[in-house]
Amino acid sequence: MKLLFIGDIVGQPGRRAVAELLPRLRGRHKLDFVIANGENSAGGSGITPRTAEEIFSAGVDVITSGDHLWDQKDVMELLASEKRFLRPLNYPPGTPGQGSGVFEVRSSEFGVRNLIGVLNVQGRTFMQPPLEHPFLLAAEEVKRLREQTKVIFVDFHAEATSEKIAFARFLDGQVSAVVGTHTHVQTADEQIFPGGTAYLSDAGFTGPHESVLGREIEPVIKRFLTNMPQRFEVAKERVILHGALVDIDGATGKATKIQRMAESLI
Ligand SMILES: [Fe+2]
Ligand SMILES: [Fe+2]
Repeated sequence: MKLLFIGDIVGQPGRRAVAELLPRLRGRHKLDFVIANGENSAGGSGITPRTAEEIFSAGVDVITSGDHLWDQKDVMELLASEKRFLRPLNYPPGTPGQGSGVFEVRSSEFGVRNLIGVLNVQGRTFMQPPLEHPFLLAAEEVKRLREQTKVIFVDFHAEATSEKIAFARFLDGQVSAVVGTHTHVQTADEQIFPGGTAYLSDAGFTGPHESVLGREIEPVIKRFLTNMPQRFEVAKERVILHGALVDIDGATGKATKIQRMAESLI
């Protein structure tokens, strides 16, 4: 089973990159399932039903999120009714929405029906707000998901590489892949752990790279120089789709290959 994960989609340039590049990537890599982090898809901050719809129509099957979850108030609509939209699992009980889901895979091998579990979890080291324990809650949720399928993908939205690696090592053998998001900087440590879990500390971001993490450069420099609040508009130039391509054995749920992806929008 071939799965593409797309790193944080930033604003209109990020959405355009997904719309234009994903159909090509689907064909070229014979993708069976596509997951994207959409926490920055609305003007760089948060997600709305409209930006989510744009991402789904481009061919994304499931959207994950992170600490920018609440930036747009319309997100409540998505949390209330969209099963293909995930928020971090480790919010307290009673929080609307869901942190995981089991979805049917449109397999390229005709007649083969597969299920995939997708899980979105947020780290706690250097992260606001501090949520419930990611390791313990993820382990419980993975156990539940494995009753339905061994193919499980985890988007771990976290800042610290130590927390990300420890979290993935903790789940090694229980899930097919753990890919990190949030830093917007793609790491070069893709690997498959001994238990069969594919790993990448951060997928990077999808959007304008002539920027600071997707935002216009000058206001960010000014903020660091003066500490005065600035408007951080989404930048425009050098749009790249960042992500990771994972091959998974549908029968065992183990990953057989992971590759970083950086596809430029020309
Ligand atoms: Fe984030
Ligand atoms: Fe982000």
